[in-house]
Amino acid sequence: MLIIDGKKVSIDLKSELKVRVDEHRAATGKVPGLTVIIVGEDPASQVYVRNKAKSCKETGMHSSVIEMEASTSEEALLSKIRELNDDPDVHGILVQQPLPKQIDEFAVTLAIDPAKDVDGFHPENLGRLVMGHLDKCFVSCTPYGILELLGRYNIETKGRHCVVVGRSNIVGKPMANLMLQKLDATNCTVTICHSATKDIPSYTRQADILIAAIGKAGFITADMVKPGAVVIDVGINRIDDPSTKSGSRLVGDVDYDGVSALASAMTPVPGGVGPMTIAMLLKNTLQSFERANNLQ
Ligand SMILES: NC(=O)c1ccc[n+]([C@@H]2O[C@H](COP(=O)([O-])OP(=O)(O)OC[C@H]3O[C@@H](n4cnc5c(N)ncnc54)[C@H](OP(=O)(O)O)[C@@H]3O)[C@@H](O)[C@H]2O)c1
Repeated sequence: MLIIDGKKVSIDLKSELKVRVDEHRAATGKVPGLTVIIVGEDPASQVYVRNKAKSCKETGMHSSVIEMEASTSEEALLSKIRELNDDPDVHGILVQQPLPKQIDEFAVTLAIDPAKDVDGFHPENLGRLVMGHLDKCFVSCTPYGILELLGRYNIETKGRHCVVVGRSNIVGKPMANLMLQKLDATNCTVTICHSATKDIPSYTRQADILIAAIGKAGFITADMVKPGAVVIDVGINRIDDPSTKSGSRLVGDVDYDGVSALASAMTPVPGGVGPMTIAMLLKNTLQSFERANNLQ
C-alpha cells in the first residue's frame, strides 16, 4: 500500500513557496503578509496559531498575530477586520475558530475581504469554487491540500467514484465540489454522506476514492472499503492511550490498521492531510500577494 506522505509533500511545497517569496522580495522589496486574529485563550487554537506563524516565517512571509480578549464584542472584531481589509501590507486575514459565543462566525466570514480570505470560507470564494473558477478564488485549505496530494501522487481521478463522508462548510462541501469539477485532477462522480445517510457502508464500498471528514475516531472500518480504494483521512481525534507518555494520541476517522490492509493508497494520521492544511494557507497567502501586485 502506498502511504500518501503529507508531511513530506508539505515540506517540499513550503520550500517551493520560499523560492517564490525570495524572488518577489528581490524584485519588489515586498513579501506576502498573513495576519491571524485569535479571540480568547483556547489552548488548541493557540497551538494552531503559533504553528501558522512559524510556517509563515519559514517561507519568508511576514506574519502577525492579533490577540483579543475572550469578552471582545462582535463589533470590535469586525472593526479590526475592516482595518486589516484596508491595510495593503496584509494579504491574508484569518480569524481562528472557534469564536466566543457572543460573536456570530458567519458575520465574521462575511466581513473579511474575499480578496484576502485565504481560508476560502467567504461565500464569494466558495461560490466561485462551485462554479469552477479555481484560478479566481481561494480554495478552503484542507480540501485544497487533499487536491495537491492527489495530484503529486498521480492518483487517477477522472471518471472515478469519490465518496465524501462529512458535509461541513470547511471540509466536506468544498471537497465534494472540488472533486466534481471538470479538471484534470478531479472530474469524479461524487457522493456525499452525512449523519442522516442511511446505510453509509453501501456508499463507501462503492468508492474508488474515499474521503473521511467526520470527526469520529476509527469510523471507517475495513468492511466499509472497496479493495484497492484510495483512502483520505481528514479526521483528527484525540483518544486515550495509557501506553504513551501523555496518556493520549491522535487518530483519524479511518481504522488505519484494518483499512491499510486493503486500500491501494492512504493518508496516515498524523502526517497526512494535517500538514497540508497549513502549507495551502501559505500558498493562498502567496497567491493573494501575487494578485494584489499583478505578479501572476
Ligand atoms: N487535517 C486537517 O487539517 C483538518 C482540518 C479540518 C478538520 N479536520 C478534522 O476533520 C474532521 C471533520 O472536521 P469538520 O470541521 O468537517 O467537522 P464537522 O463540522 O463536525 O462536520 C462533521 C461532518 O461529519 C458528519 N457526521 C458526524 N457524525 C456522523 C455519522 N455518525 N455518520 C455520518 N456522518 C457523520 C456530520 O454530519 P451532519 O452534517 O449531518 O451533522 C458533518 O457533516 C474532524 O476530526 C476535524 O478535527 C482536520
